[in-house]
Amino acid sequence: MLPAHVTLVEVGPRDGLQNEPQPVATADKIELVRLLEHAGLRHIEVTSFVSPKWMPQMADACDVLAGVRAPGVRDARVRHSALVPNLKGLEAALAGPRESWPDEIVVFTAASESFCRRNTNCSIEESLERFEPVVARARAEGLGVRGSISCALGCPYEGEVSPDAVGRVAAGLKALGADHCGVADTIGVGTALRAQAAMEAALRHFDLDAVSGHFHDTCGQALVNIYACLQMGVHTFDASVAGLGGCPYARGATGNVATEEVLYLLRGLGIDTGVDLDRLLDAASFISGQLGRSVPSRAGRALLSAR
Ligand code: HMG
Ligand code: MG
Repeated sequence: MLPAHVTLVEVGPRDGLQNEPQPVATADKIELVRLLEHAGLRHIEVTSFVSPKWMPQMADACDVLAGVRAPGVRDARVRHSALVPNLKGLEAALAGPRESWPDEIVVFTAASESFCRRNTNCSIEESLERFEPVVARARAEGLGVRGSISCALGCPYEGEVSPDAVGRVAAGLKALGADHCGVADTIGVGTALRAQAAMEAALRHFDLDAVSGHFHDTCGQALVNIYACLQMGVHTFDASVAGLGGCPYARGATGNVATEEVLYLLRGLGIDTGVDLDRLLDAASFISGQLGRSVPSRAGRALLSAR
């Protein structure tokens, strides 16, 4: 039995644009979010409050968040989330008026020690300790807290990652008080059975409503991995418009699975998402145009050429 409804969490404005070598104008980031909302996406990761020394592409986080939540712009049906690595990031996310705070923060660690260190300069255990006051403050302020486990299927430095490692980190996130656990194949090396095994490990600590899959398409397996998780009843998936993305600390990883390709799959399966494919293609065309390229995803190219 496949789920009747799937929630797509759009991560292009954050996970996608963090990987672009050229600067992207703040106004273009805000316009991208507007177009995604217009397409019906109701959960969007808009930016990250990380160190600008580590991730200069996200240095305009405050302005992006304020822009998408400005009076007259903000769509109250949409949940905006922002990545936060430490208390300094949370304080920056909460520096403006309450209306411009994110609805939810995302704390991120990894199932592989080497990646955790390269990405956040600390061990997995230290990352969880660092999140303790972050999660406590976010919860006290009434914000949602998603936890994300990078390199849950494979690591660029350590190779294959075991489901047990995923389970241990999921247990840590649960103990912290995260209300959601994202299982991320950051470098896109996983295949269907391994995706299911990693998800099962997360499901030992979180309910089905509280897990999501985040797949990169490096080896062309992302849609198959999503289908494998759908078969388990998982009904929340991250995706990135126009397949934007990657992580500078994950050598060799290509983009996230393209939202339009996931939507094409789900539509074909008769699964409701509330997202309009044609309007989503407008968002894909817009951001690809601003980046000086055509829409790279196969579904995007095919559907746009048939317009
Ligand atoms: P660090 O260098 O160990 O931290 O970095 P630090 O405390 O020594 O700070 C260094 C400098 O950064 C200091 O500035 C701090 O003030 C500043 P200085 O005193 O030298 O002028 N700083 C900050 N500035 C703004 N906001 C902050 C902040 N924190 C420190 N929050 C740290 C540790 C965690 C900060 C750093 O490693 C970092 O920011 N890492 C983030 C890297 C990143 O953004 N990676 C991509 C996101 S994860 C991802 O893409 C994977 C995921 O999408 C899943 C998937 O795709 O599969 C989630
Ligand atoms: Mg990603």
